[in-house]
Amino acid sequence: MREYTVIDTLKDTLKRAEKIVFLTGAGISQESGIGTFRGNDGLWEKYDPMKLASAQAFRDDPRLVWRWYNDRRRKIMAVKPNPGHMAIASLQSHRQVWVLTQNIDGLHHGAGSREVIELHGNIFATKCTTCDFKGKIRDEFPDRPPSCKICGSNLRPDVVWFGEGIKREVWNQAIIHSMSCDAMIIVGASLAVSPANTLPLYAKNIKATLIEVNPENTPLSNEMDFSIRKTAVDALPKILSIFESLN
Ligand code: APR
Ligand code: ZN
Repeated sequence: MREYTVIDTLKDTLKRAEKIVFLTGAGISQESGIGTFRGNDGLWEKYDPMKLASAQAFRDDPRLVWRWYNDRRRKIMAVKPNPGHMAIASLQSHRQVWVLTQNIDGLHHGAGSREVIELHGNIFATKCTTCDFKGKIRDEFPDRPPSCKICGSNLRPDVVWFGEGIKREVWNQAIIHSMSCDAMIIVGASLAVSPANTLPLYAKNIKATLIEVNPENTPLSNEMDFSIRKTAVDALPKILSIFESLN
């Protein structure tokens, strides 16, 4: 008798789900070779996050912070979306899919996901520290922050730093999708950082099914309808195959 696994019980739920929202964190990019923040392979191991990922740190030493982001951009440009990112992108041909990601690496776009909300911004975007100029940077790694073409001030990465809030219009969109989905699949997020960690509760409030894909427990594991203790690359292609088998 075949073991009746979590994935099987998931089948009925997913069959009925029309709109699926993914909430992803650094864990989904881990198997692409990008360290997570709080894991033991963590990015933060080598750097003190409060030293580098904050507006104060950038004011104190713009070159140091800028060079750290150069280093992170180089690392991200050297990796590719993994089968976890690809499975989420392929799901778009079976269901309405939105991706709310805490990641700034752009790998969901790289995998072909079309509806992606980058809660914490994107490492390849820049913004002026003074005026509202916004830009992009990819294959260049200047040793110091570039100057704004409009006002001459330093540009900075257009990402959400510690102590900064998620942009209002981005947050409103994230809530709208969390409150109008049939299932929310949380992948590779420690749910240690607010307000992103409140999004599953918005979904739960409207009786959406909560599914967690994470090898470890999180503070919201008890709120989940299903906890799949597997990695993104193990679990997401299997979840995709459930939808493919439904057609
Ligand atoms: N597959 C799935 N999950 C994984 C994998 C994997 N291969 N590897 C690790 N994980 C899980 C870990 O168990 C952990 O719960 O991914 C999670 C990663 O957690 P964090 O490192 O805290 O990353 P994240 O949740 O994205 O952090 C949120 O905090 O530091 C800020 O702005 C930063 O966006 C980041 C936010
Ligand atoms: Zn400017």
